[in-house]
Amino acid sequence: MNTPQAGIFALGTSSHAYLEFDLLDAKSCKEFASTIAAIREPRTTTGGVNFVIGFRPELWRDIVPADAPAGVEGFNHDIKGTEGFVMPSTQHDALVWMSGSAYDVIFDMARTVIHDLAGQATLGEETSSWPYRHDRDLTGFVDGSENPTLLDAPLAGLLPEGAPGAGGSVLLLQKWKHKVTEWEALPVEQQERIMGRTKQDSIELENKPADSHVARTDQDEFGNIFRRNMPYGNIDDHGTVFVGFSADQKRLSRMLESMAGLITGTRDALTRYTQPLTGSYYFVPSVESLRNLR
Ligand code: HEM
Repeated sequence: MNTPQAGIFALGTSSHAYLEFDLLDAKSCKEFASTIAAIREPRTTTGGVNFVIGFRPELWRDIVPADAPAGVEGFNHDIKGTEGFVMPSTQHDALVWMSGSAYDVIFDMARTVIHDLAGQATLGEETSSWPYRHDRDLTGFVDGSENPTLLDAPLAGLLPEGAPGAGGSVLLLQKWKHKVTEWEALPVEQQERIMGRTKQDSIELENKPADSHVARTDQDEFGNIFRRNMPYGNIDDHGTVFVGFSADQKRLSRMLESMAGLITGTRDALTRYTQPLTGSYYFVPSVESLRNLR
């Protein structure tokens, strides 16, 4: 039985940091992986930090070929959608996602991680995030309503026992900048048609438009995933960090293609009001696989 990294399912934390690293020398990927695997979280429960550690899928295949799920790839190319819409590829070599109860703990821990990896990797991208009105994203809508429960999330998010990479997960990390002025100029009814759900209570619309976000990402069509989206940014410049875990990369990549209008020709209306700035896939190995690296 392979144990998933606990941070994947550690809900309810109010401070997050996503650190994406670029390896300085590809030949030293094993040493790099063993430094990452040796990161020590604070042991106290109240001041604790949850970690999720992921590797660029091709890098993980080089490090532990036997634990690499077949066919999983990095976000290696831009996704070119209809009407000139682009989801950029900004793949890095590794991700350390930290979450905890307060930003000071995350801040100090993140600096320690960067310091420990100095000489082996540089920080390519850094994002911090925080919850907004309990469970809303910065569009004002409840985000996560159709997530599986924590009993079902492992089925949606983890590679099954017996498969290469068992207990691991494919993670899509994408930073989406909201076009705040345009979005907020829309009447609520129009925002609801774009999302496909009501704003106040997050009830799915009976006749949701084909270009609504929930129609373009319908899990009945693409399969279930486990989302941990969070708001990021400052007052003037902000958006959503999309964090999605899947047992099967195809579910995520097909959802992106669908949002970009590449499956039916209908582009997700939400993409007219939010712009992806980054895009990376990481393989998040099981605890046992990480422990073996030390
Ligand atoms: C700015 C970026 C995004 C925002 C603000 C956003 C927000 C939302 C909201 C408010 C919902 C409805 C409530 C819920 O079920 O959670 C939703 C549903 C969903 N979103 Fe997103 N989302 C974003 C990007 C994405 C991306 C990139 C994907 C996939 C790769 C995705 C996949 C889904 C899925 C699977 C659902 C549930 C669909 C269903 O009803 O089965 N979202 N999202």
